[in-house]
This record gives sequence, structure tokens and C-alpha cells, in this order.
Amino acid sequence: MNKWGKLSMGLLLAAGLLAGCGSNNNDNNTAASGNANTGTEAKTLIMGTSADFPPYEFHKMVDGKDTIVGFDIEIAKEIAADMGAKLEVKDLPFDSLLNELSSGRIDMVISGLSPTPERAEAVGLSEIYYKAEQAVVVREADKDKFATMDSLKGAKLGIQTGSIQEDIAKGIEGAQLTSLGKISEIVLQLQSNRVDASIMEGPVAKSFVKNVKGLVITDAKPEVEDDGYVIGVKKDNTELLEQVNTTLKRLDSEGKIDEFVAAASELAESN
Ligand code: ARG
Repeated sequence: MNKWGKLSMGLLLAAGLLAGCGSNNNDNNTAASGNANTGTEAKTLIMGTSADFPPYEFHKMVDGKDTIVGFDIEIAKEIAADMGAKLEVKDLPFDSLLNELSSGRIDMVISGLSPTPERAEAVGLSEIYYKAEQAVVVREADKDKFATMDSLKGAKLGIQTGSIQEDIAKGIEGAQLTSLGKISEIVLQLQSNRVDASIMEGPVAKSFVKNVKGLVITDAKPEVEDDGYVIGVKKDNTELLEQVNTTLKRLDSEGKIDEFVAAASELAESN
């Protein structure tokens, strides 16, 4: 695939060298400290995500236990496995994720994150791992009323705080914005007539309209500049960024990302 063509062999080489260094370091540590546990203790890779976003990341009861699942989580597991690290998933408000990253409280953001110039300035962003379109969600009775982007002028829009959808909505003339922390809160506002419409990722919209009675996707097509998703790491953490890109490249070539999306969409359907 073209998007991966840009990744140089040098990157693969560097990743290989780093992997080599890691195990050497561990051996050294073990020898130096005389602590037998040091060498075998896996490091922990902390992922930050806003788990309100099926099929990307969402809560589900698995064997009677509240678990965060979704295709972003599957990708994170692969990155951790390739690093020989243990994955920890932190559920955080979407608009706090990049700050948490910059302050080092999490190692990476996988959260259906769209690349923007501002974000690329603030943190390190991976290659694009998946693409999807934007959708407009309304109450069933309003399906025809909001069939175009123009028809959203002056409408009441429910939007996730800090998302690119907030920027799209701000560009709609006369639109009144209600910014909320979670997509599920937006859905409630729609159901209770407090907002008229919401803009969200197509796969998320599909998942919600399947599970929530009375909501539908209209024919309106919000345009975004870069309709893909990326993984964020702390600015200048090139080591982790290279590892992330190497794993993404592997998953893409194995057809794993499409598999993860299909499996997560199925899981989300019965949520
Ligand atoms: N793709 C949009 C953005 O980057 C929304 C992502 C929201 N993600 C989430 N897990 N709630 O702004």
C-alpha cells in the first residue's frame, strides 16, 4: 500500500537495533543490580483513550467484567507485544489526552485521533492506520430536514469537546454548539430534543444508530481535510514512534487492521 511506501528501510533497521539494545540493557541491569527480577520484569506501555467510541474503543462486559474493547485496543496490544511490554489502558476525557501525553502520564494516544496541523505541532503522530468518513446523526423524523450540510445552518449541534467535529461545527453558519465530554451524552441530548444533530465518525455513527432507537444517519456529508486516524506519542519520543509505525506497517500488510475493525464492529453491535 502506498501510504506505507514512505517508510524507509532505515526505520526498520533502527527498530531492530533498538529491540536489540533493549534486551542487552536488561541483561546489564540484571548483572549490575544482582536482582534476578529486573531482567524479566516487562515494562508497561500506557495507552490513553476515550472509551466512548464504538467500534474504536468502548466498554463491554466480558465474562462478567467491565472491559475496554475495540479495534484501537487490539492495535495497542500488538504494539505492546512487539515491544515485549505489558499494556495498560487508561480511560480519559478525549480533550485531556494530548496534555496527558505531553506531561508523560501516558505513553501513547490511540483514540480515533485525527491528524491536524496543531496536533502535529504538539505531539508526535504516526502514519495513518485507518480511514473513515464523517456522518451526521439526527432523530428519525428529521432525516430529510438535515439531508445536506447547508441544512445544518442555525441548527443546535451536539459535539465532543476538543474533537475535529467541534471545528467542523464551528464552521457552520449560525450553528449553536453544545460541547460534551462523551458521545453517549450527545446521544442523550439528541434523544431528549436538546440538540438537533451531531457530527461524528461514520463507524461510530453506525454503531450508535444500530443500538439506539429513533436515531438515523442523514445524507449530509461533512468534509474533513485528512480523514484518517493516527497514534500520538510524546513529542520527540522517536523510539516509540518508530515502534508504532513498524507495528502498524506489519498489521497493515497482514490485513489485520481490517480484521480488527470487523471483529470490533460485531462486538459493538451487541453492546
Ligand atoms: N476523530 C476525532 C478527532 O480526532 C474524534 C475522536 C474522538 N475519539 C474518541 N475516542 N472519543 O478529533
